[in-house]
Amino acid sequence: MVCLGNICRSPLAEGILKDKLRERGLNWAVDSAGTGFWHIGEPPDPRSVSTARKYGLDISRQRARQLQSQDLEAFDLILAMDRSNYDDILRLANTGQQKSKVEMILNYVDPGSNRNVPDPYWDDDGFDKVFHMLDEACERVIDKHT
Ligand code: 4NP
Repeated sequence: MVCLGNICRSPLAEGILKDKLRERGLNWAVDSAGTGFWHIGEPPDPRSVSTARKYGLDISRQRARQLQSQDLEAFDLILAMDRSNYDDILRLANTGQQKSKVEMILNYVDPGSNRNVPDPYWDDDGFDKVFHMLDEACERVIDKHT
């Protein structure tokens, strides 16, 4: 799960996907990262933590890290929150196989639409909407890959 800062959107996506996998008894390796370096080592934004908590998820122990090119080798699927993340991730890819692992996450909801998960960083009211978008997308991700 990849966004810009790894403090707002991708920590929610990581928490939501892990919770759904646990419910279904599936053992996938899930992690999140940011394309940027500004928030390395920080916990998720308090607004993401409280939104997750509202829906019964604890994401407070996550810590932000920056996406590395080896992540494109280590993981089977790299999900970008928006188009700019997608372009930044592709710049780290070294092979066609790595490039083929990168998807816009909302294309699991609306195939081919290339919709962005809006960055809620500057919008206190955006977090709930982002949670629900990611919740639906994560459901579809599991459905498609099981
Ligand atoms: P995220 O949100 O990419 O969803 O974690 C952002 C967090 C921080 C910044 C931008 C977006 N920032 O500019 O510091």
